[in-house]
Order: sequence, then structure tokens, then C-alpha cells
Amino acid sequence: MNVIERTVANVTTWFNDRTPGLMPAYKKHMSEYYAPKNFNLWYYFGSLAMLVLVNQIVTGIFLTMNFKPSAAEAFASVEYIMRDVEGGWLIRYMHSTGASLFFVVVYLHMFRAMLYGSYQKPRELVWILGMLIFLTLMAEAFLGYVLPWGQMSYWGAQVIINLFGAIPVVGPELTEWIRGDYLVSDATLNRFFALHVIALPLVILLLVVLHLGALHEVGSNNPEGVDIKKVKDENGKPKDGIPFHPYYTVKDLFGVGFFLTIAAFILFFIPELGGLFLEYDNFIPANPMVTPEHIKPVWYFTPYYAMLRAVPDKLLGVMTMGGAVLILFGLPWFDRCKVKSIRYRPMLHKVMITLFVIAFVTLAWLGMQSGSPVQTLAARGLTLFYFAFFLTMPLWSTWGQTKAVPDRVPDHD
Ligand code: HEM
Repeated sequence: MNVIERTVANVTTWFNDRTPGLMPAYKKHMSEYYAPKNFNLWYYFGSLAMLVLVNQIVTGIFLTMNFKPSAAEAFASVEYIMRDVEGGWLIRYMHSTGASLFFVVVYLHMFRAMLYGSYQKPRELVWILGMLIFLTLMAEAFLGYVLPWGQMSYWGAQVIINLFGAIPVVGPELTEWIRGDYLVSDATLNRFFALHVIALPLVILLLVVLHLGALHEVGSNNPEGVDIKKVKDENGKPKDGIPFHPYYTVKDLFGVGFFLTIAAFILFFIPELGGLFLEYDNFIPANPMVTPEHIKPVWYFTPYYAMLRAVPDKLLGVMTMGGAVLILFGLPWFDRCKVKSIRYRPMLHKVMITLFVIAFVTLAWLGMQSGSPVQTLAARGLTLFYFAFFLTMPLWSTWGQTKAVPDRVPDHD
């Protein structure tokens, strides 16, 4: 042993003697967490979601150092960050572009679960915790968008808070309680700031810990949907499993490099992505006397916004929009197929998933448009399809011939 090795060994022993739980936890979740050996690129998005979460927290802390959470100063303080604070423009764009990239990553992460049936038994809880993260993330993004106090911040808050007014009996009082005033005002901005910078990030962090804890109890699924715990070697280790560390830590680092390259390109060349990531109306200070021509949310909310607008009745529209998100919680129970992965499912399943993606993306596009009669009609049809997809899944997921799932992960040379 050389000096360095001896020092590392001594320090490790010192810590192990004082924190006996640390090493077993490291082993359970890293060096002896056996993950299926066949993860593909869809499996990058979990670690990427963690990376973006860290980015949002770190850049958020630096933004908070110069942001003024008051209706009189918020807009100007963001301009100050962009123009006068050293590196402020970069921090702000890392945070605003980061928010959009968070949703890109999380949507792809969720879609992976749909492709490979990862929400099926025994991973229902992993999915439920994921859905709770998704809900909290939506709230977090909405609150954050209000903070710069631009036109879209103000009017977006106005529209969304007013939706609660559709709730019978308590609606009007509830909106007042949320705003803390008779209209969206300084009090609203103050409380949104508190929730955005501390309350919801804490909830998200806690949920992520639980999400990973739940996953590591049952083990990861994989693109084949094969249960790797079925075939073990003489030491009780899954034959198709490899230790998460170092194999997947290194693989994930490659994903991180690739992702950061794309993220840096967007950040340095097209940070607003043509008004998609930061809407142009939000570069105008909030003005309660002037309503923007088209009030619309950021792209990640537009599928649900299209569904809200598709329904003529306000309360029913709110229920449709809320239901569209909440229905996803039921996915593990709607899907009755005996096999997990799309690779072993019938053609019908592939067709349905493709139609679902087309419907979802089209709804997202419709939610960004002005809402002409034809567009509203299209949104209605697609909303019906969206709900029918899930509600009839218990039927169609059992139709057709599935392929036999092997016991071991096959070699696809
Ligand atoms: C902050 C957001 C999130 C973070 C940091 C996160 C993190 C992770 C990580 C690191 C993994 C293991 C690696 C992987 O399978 O990619 C994972 C697995 C999983 N996540 Fe998430 N996740 C997030 C949100 C979600 C959401 C919104 C859902 C679904 C509603 C979800 C559902 C799942 C499922 C089902 C698995 C197991 C996948 C499998 O074993 O095939 N996650 N998550």
C-alpha cells in the first residue's frame, strides 16, 4: 500500500466506525445494486432528471440572491440579473431553459415506462411516486413562471387561479385565498416565491428519494421486461445483472456529456427557442390593464390547456384538464397485458401507443394556437381519444397474441 491508498483506507475506516449505516447504504444502492445489463438509451433519462433537478436548485439559489419578490421590483430585478449581474444572463437562462429541459427529460422518462411496462407489478409504487413528482413539478414550474412578473406571468396566474373559481360553493373564496388578495398582486407574488424557492423543491427532493428507494426495493425493469431476479448465480446475484457502480455510473456519465452538449447549444444560441421556452410577451412588464392577445402557457402545459379549452363548460373543462393528469395514476391498473415490454406485445399495442403519441403532440400544438372552430373540434376529438385510450385499456391491452418472454436477457448481436 502506498501513502495515498493507506490514507484513503484510514479515512474510510474512520467514517465507517462512526457512521456504520453509510457503507451498507452505498452497497445497497450503488456497488451492489444489480441493474439489468441491457439498459438502453431510454434509461438515461432518470439520471438526467436528477442532473436537471440539481441544476434548477443551484441556479435557483444564485437567482434568488438578486431577485426581488415584489410586484414593484420583480421585473426590473430580472432585467438587472440579465444585464448587470456578472454571469447573470447565463444563470437565468440555465434556469429558464433548464425548466423546459426538465419537462423534456421527464416526459421521455415517463414514456420509457409506457414502452416497457415499467409501472406494472411490482413497480406500481415507483410509478405513483413518479406521478406525485410530476404533479409537484407542474406546480413548481407554474409558480416559477409567475415570478418574473411579465405579462404572461401575470395573466397566466390570473387564468390558472381563476380555474379554481369554477369549483362549486367554495370556488370564489378559494381563489381569493390562493391570491391573498382580491386580484393577482404583490401578496400573490410573495407567497408564490416562498413556495417556489423552498416548499416545493423540498417536496420534490423528498419524493425523488422515495422514488429511488421504492425502485431499489424491487429492482429495475429493462427493455425486454425480463425479471432478472429469476435466474441467479451461486452467490445469489442475478446472472443478467451488473453492479450499478461502476458500470452504469460510467454509462450515465456518457449520457450526461451528450445531454450537456445539446443543452449548451440551446443555451448559448437559442435560449428562448423561438418563444417556446420563454414567451416574448413575458419580456413586457405585467400590466393589469392590458390583456395579451393570446394567453397561453409554456409548451409543457399546452396538451392539458388544449383539453381545458376544448370543453365549453368551465367546471367540466377544469375537470377534464385535471382528469387528464390524474388518470395517469391509474396506468398500472388499466394495463392488463401479461407481458411488460412493447417488444413482446401484439401489433395492436404498438398502434395504440403510436396513436397516443400523435394525439398528445397534436394537443400540445393545438394548445399553442388561437383556438379556431376547426382547431377546437380537433382538440375535442383528441381529448376523447386521450381518455378512451386509458379507460378502454383494460380491454385492448388483453387483445391479440403476445410473444413468449425469455427467462434470460437475450443477446441481440
Ligand atoms: C424529478 C423527476 C424524476 C427523477 C429525478 C427520477 C429519477 C429516476 C431514476 C434515477 C430512475 C432509475 C433510472 C431509470 O430507470 O431511468 C427512475 C426510474 C423510474 N422512474 Fe423516475 N424520476 C423522476 C420522475 C418520474 C416520473 C414523473 C415518473 C412517472 C410518472 C417516473 C417513473 C419511473 C419508473 C416507472 C421507473 C422505473 C423504470 C424501470 O425500472 O424501467 N419517474 N427514476
